Amino acid sequence: MTISVLIVCLGNICRSPMGEAVLRNEALKRGITDIHVDSAGTAAAHIGEDPDERTIEVCGMNDVPISHSARQVRASDFTSFDYILAADGSNLRALERHVGHSEGSKATVKLWGSYLSDNKPIQDPYYGGLRIGLRNGACAGWVYGGLQASLGKRVRGAVNDLTDGTG
Ligand code: 4NP
Repeated sequence: MTISVLIVCLGNICRSPMGEAVLRNEALKRGITDIHVDSAGTAAAHIGEDPDERTIEVCGMNDVPISHSARQVRASDFTSFDYILAADGSNLRALERHVGHSEGSKATVKLWGSYLSDNKPIQDPYYGGLRIGLRNGACAGWVYGGLQASLGKRVRGAVNDLTDGTG
């Protein structure tokens, strides 16, 4: 059965397209094909835009292919995705407001970092320089959490692969 994961941030140009790209790439590297990954933003401001140049740069430095056109979260996401994972608390609250209005929602809506022991949000990087990255452990940690939640034992050990020598 294919598992579907939607990664959500505010603008869908920095954090969530990176999470989407990393998750897809990690699944691919492990030969896992029964996963569908997408990303979206809670806001409409950047609809149709490519990922932020800093996100593209970090992905490029880590050989992670990235291609995404920003879109906003829509009601049908709550019925079509198994997991909807928010980057920070503000994104999560926006999603939870949505859930209340989405009949038949089946998605598990959680904080991106909730699979990690520290349960930390991934802060908005837009005005603060590149504070996210494949190298700071946050995204890597989420990827592990997301993979573990969605794919179970098959990805045990991924957190070490992703965070070794980084940070
Ligand atoms: P993202 O970052 O939510 O990780 O895509 C942001 C992108 C744009 C804005 C804020 C955060 N903005 O205010 O336009």
